[in-house]
Amino acid sequence: MIKKPFIPIVLGTAREGRQSEKVAKAVYALLKDRADMETQLIDVKDYIQGRTIPPWAGDESINPWREIVASASAFIIVTPEYNHGYPGELKILLDQEKDAYKDKSVAICSTSRGGFGGIRVIENILPVFHAIGLKLISTSISVSKVEEFPEDLAKLDEHFKSKVQNIAEDLLKSQVIGI
Ligand SMILES: Cc1cc2nc3c(=O)[nH]c(=O)nc-3n(C[C@H](O)[C@H](O)[C@H](O)COP(=O)(O)O)c2cc1C
Repeated sequence: MIKKPFIPIVLGTAREGRQSEKVAKAVYALLKDRADMETQLIDVKDYIQGRTIPPWAGDESINPWREIVASASAFIIVTPEYNHGYPGELKILLDQEKDAYKDKSVAICSTSRGGFGGIRVIENILPVFHAIGLKLISTSISVSKVEEFPEDLAKLDEHFKSKVQNIAEDLLKSQVIGI
């Protein structure tokens, strides 16, 4: 039996009261029943120790994240923009692995309270992806006014729903053609 591609959805902020959690949960709910992929919701707070631990440190506490990276074909990262950048905890998470990201694809779903949807986080995380070999696909989602994003999945906007499926399809295609 051919193993389906595993595309985890990574929530990149551990902030208490984070609004982005609603978005990550919605992305997960929309993708979890697709027949052509497997997914899992990964909460950054469950995979970091609050300080940088590089993969060569020999610290077993980072193994759960390293196992996720090893089995993932691609990633969807849901992240807010903090001071025009990415949350520090997301960087701590990514720094827990190095070579195993190489040539895997990643899509970003950014969020913000304001009207720009956190688009600057995409530009600012790009050098990090470049350093670790993750390939950012051009399909992305930017959720503005995230405080108004519904918890109730029945109230999700059709445009958001179709963008999430587009991201999954583009990540799956990237597996085949190896962008
Ligand atoms: C430390 C910090 C920095 C922030 N910087 C920005 C920013 O640069 N641009 C922006 O649009 N929103 C910024 N925000 C507001 C977020 O857009 C807002 O908190 C939103 O709800 C998404 O983040 P959350 O998932 O933490 O709730 C910032 C919030 C925090 C906590």
